[in-house]
Amino acid sequence: MAATDLERISNVEPESRSLSLGGHVGFDSLPDQLVSKSVTQGFSFNILCVGETGIGKSTLMNTLFNTTFETEEASHHEECVRLRPQTYDLQESNVHLKLTIVDAVGFGDQINKDDRPIVDYIDAQFENYLQEELKIRRSLFDYHDTRIHVCLYFITPTGHSLKSLDLVTMKKLDSKVNIIPIIAKADTISKSELHKFKIKIMGELVSNGVQIYQFPTDDEAVAEINAVMNAHLPFAVVGSTEEVKVGNKLVRARQYPWGVVQVENENHCDFVKLREMLIRVNMEDLREQTHSRHYELYRRCKLEEMGFQDSDGDSQPFSLQETYEAKRKEFLSELQRKEEEMRQMFVNKVKETELELKEKERELHEKFEHLKRIHQEEKRKVEEKRRELEEETKAFNCRKAAMEALQSQAMHATSQQPLRKDKDKKKASGWSSIYSVTIP
Ligand code: GTP
Ligand code: MG
Repeated sequence: MAATDLERISNVEPESRSLSLGGHVGFDSLPDQLVSKSVTQGFSFNILCVGETGIGKSTLMNTLFNTTFETEEASHHEECVRLRPQTYDLQESNVHLKLTIVDAVGFGDQINKDDRPIVDYIDAQFENYLQEELKIRRSLFDYHDTRIHVCLYFITPTGHSLKSLDLVTMKKLDSKVNIIPIIAKADTISKSELHKFKIKIMGELVSNGVQIYQFPTDDEAVAEINAVMNAHLPFAVVGSTEEVKVGNKLVRARQYPWGVVQVENENHCDFVKLREMLIRVNMEDLREQTHSRHYELYRRCKLEEMGFQDSDGDSQPFSLQETYEAKRKEFLSELQRKEEEMRQMFVNKVKETELELKEKERELHEKFEHLKRIHQEEKRKVEEKRRELEEETKAFNCRKAAMEALQSQAMHATSQQPLRKDKDKKKASGWSSIYSVTIP
């Protein structure tokens, strides 16, 4: 069967008709089956806390989950921003929750204004999930999903406006994670200032195009409450694990000389609203949004980067094999190009070295010729000197021979007339005068 026929067949959607059932069949229990399966499987939920050191992140987490998580205080002298994830197994009734709280330690401190580690951490969790999905033998069923479902962004209760660091960071995070902005330590700001601060923050977020998480209003069951709560953003919260007696009840509160701030009193702060929205009403939507919106965006960009497309220019359906072949060809031609480039580089290098060597050889040759000339000149001079010396020696020898001859004649004469000493002496002096005349 031709490929186009196969495509045509697979693209034909079966027609569906509505039929009524004669009696109870049982598939109405599907939602229950789903719930039961999910409960057995358990859930995971991952919260990222971003806010400056000592803003109240750990206290709020403890207050939200009504427990004490192990935390170490961050110092104000961290060298860089680092992400510290901690996972806990919690159980409420028969529901198991694997909760991971990730702290952005050192963020916003002095020179640690870098948001890169936060973005990288979020991406790394998406990448891990994508790698698991792309495996031939994947085990997504029991995979520990560490993708961040919500980022609680702690705003300092200045009453002025958002810091530019907050705006820049939220802008970078908004396409990667559901952001819920919260005003921390809301008990340190007066009610009227808080009201104005909230309006100002929302205005700044809108004017800077920062997309924060909106509680969904498409599900009828929660549409109303979510719409009301969206209008209360950013939530102004107070955290405390301290219990104070108010009336005859023990409540979590912060006690001051002038009064008590009750964490769960909606007239005092928005803690209850945050807990309702984050845990009781929208936890599943946050998980859903993370998967269908943020992860989907990451996955799409990543696959496109790798060369995958849903359809080509002629709207042909996506073929994994074709994409793979195209990528393989692209890779091989790139490899060939690199190989050719390296070969050319090698040839050039050899040529260059050859030229250098030739130049060196020529220089050496010239040096040799020069030395040879000097040597010959020296040799010629020495030769000349030798000749001169030889001539001098010859002349000397001649003079020496003449002298010796004269001396022997003189001696012969002396032996023949031994008694005429004085006369001989005179003669000898006469010889010496002859000698002085003969020898120049
Ligand atoms: P690091 O993890 O060290 O960055 O600090 P953190 O952001 O986790 O702050 P933490 O919860 O340790 O709180 C720091 C201090 O702020 C503690 O003394 C808390 O008691 C106090 N604190 C926490 N929440 C609030 C609050 O809502 N209001 C006020 N006034 N103080 C708070
Ligand atoms: Mg802390």
